[in-house]
Amino acid sequence: MSRSAHPAGPRHADVLTEGHYSAPAADLNVLDEKVWSRTVTRDADGALTVGGIAVARLAEEFGTPAYFLDESDFRARCRAWSEAFGPDADVFYAGKAFLSRAVVRWLKEEGLNLDVCSGGELTTALDAGMPAERIAFHGNNKTVAEIERAVEAGIGRIVLDSFQEIVRVAHIAQRHGVRQRVQIRVTVGVEAHTHEFIATAHEDQKFGIALADGQAAEAVRRALSLDGLDLIGVHSHIGSQIFDMAGFEVSARRVVQLLAEIRDEHGVELPEIDLGGGLGIAYTSEDDPREPHEIAKALSDIVTRECESAKLRTPRISVEPGRAIVGPTAFTLYEVGTIKPLEGLRTYVSVDGGMSDNIRTALYDAEYSVALVSRASDAEPMLVRVVGKHCESGDIVVKDAFLPADLAPGDLIAVPATGAYCRSMASNYNHALRPPVVAVRDGEARVIVRRETEEDLLRLDVG
Ligand code: LLP
Repeated sequence: MSRSAHPAGPRHADVLTEGHYSAPAADLNVLDEKVWSRTVTRDADGALTVGGIAVARLAEEFGTPAYFLDESDFRARCRAWSEAFGPDADVFYAGKAFLSRAVVRWLKEEGLNLDVCSGGELTTALDAGMPAERIAFHGNNKTVAEIERAVEAGIGRIVLDSFQEIVRVAHIAQRHGVRQRVQIRVTVGVEAHTHEFIATAHEDQKFGIALADGQAAEAVRRALSLDGLDLIGVHSHIGSQIFDMAGFEVSARRVVQLLAEIRDEHGVELPEIDLGGGLGIAYTSEDDPREPHEIAKALSDIVTRECESAKLRTPRISVEPGRAIVGPTAFTLYEVGTIKPLEGLRTYVSVDGGMSDNIRTALYDAEYSVALVSRASDAEPMLVRVVGKHCESGDIVVKDAFLPADLAPGDLIAVPATGAYCRSMASNYNHALRPPVVAVRDGEARVIVRRETEEDLLRLDVG
């Protein structure tokens, strides 16, 4: 389905379609619902609105570049995940995708838990009032100070990632006179079909403890023997931006097998398994993500089936979606600057941001969509590459896309599905000022993370 103020016409028959570029949508004014957040639409003049507010007004009030986050969409996705998994499972939002105090409050109100992976994320979560028992702490190299703070706060669970950490957390917990609830992160040996840098369940990488060579079973032995630890389960995260459920199914099967081995060896049935995050979202019209209810059903079916055959009580399942919740809820708004047509190649469209607000294209070869949003246009499509203003030729935001040929400096364009891993991975490269995040809901817009200023830069520069 698509939404447009402009009826689609048979206009763009013979555009640049050679090479691997897919043909443009029949009408560039049509917004593909898959990649835009739920309250995004075009008004009668063809300008994009979100939460009932036109982008021109947003640009005027908040400037560009800026991320606009559709709060009601974010909340709806939280509810969809928790309803899909139901009362016998737990959904932990992965804060690394994007975290701010407002987001923590929304999560709390919508009944989600939170996965943090650094002291900074933990501080944000606690400061915004997330109860410590609803927080899980991840990371392959948590510092002693971070573990101390987590234990002191009464954190719900720490996910142990190495043999050294098993001992470290046990000592700290004992020193505080508590038994810390922990899970052990295992690498299940699944090759997830995603970019190498965001795949995490093959054995040759830094996360987790391998299942294959008996290391995970040994880790369980040690954790069960230490007084400071209350081992509640096993954790597996196979990677990120994954569409194929097969990897999750193999992972679930192997984790359940480990639970059965633990029961046979120790006579204990661990009550929980965590299957991590990693579910893919649509960045372009080519992507077909699964709905939370399909994911929940696939995972719970496989766990139930495997537990029945191993004669195990079905453990409580938890999942940790980050991208799948926040990714589709935001777009980045840019103002078009220099436009440079390269004869026979493509047109380079420069925007007022770039790799400092979206590193994913440069880092993972990620694909994005883009649309002219300040107005509608009947002009022919032109093949463009949207680039930033940084001193680096790899500073690409959208590799290949079509925009109307009458695009001009001063137009506003928007890149959808930038809610996850864009602001959270933003940098000050070239002393760029990191853009604000503006939450939009029911006709109101408010800054939840303000724009960085040059004073902020100078304040850090104490020399
Ligand atoms: N749980 C654990 C243990 C994780 O390591 C991650 C992501 C998640 C959950 C959430 O995964 P998600 O549902 O968001 O895919 N910067 C990369 C993604 C790195 C993901 C790291 N871990 C990107 O921009 O694609």
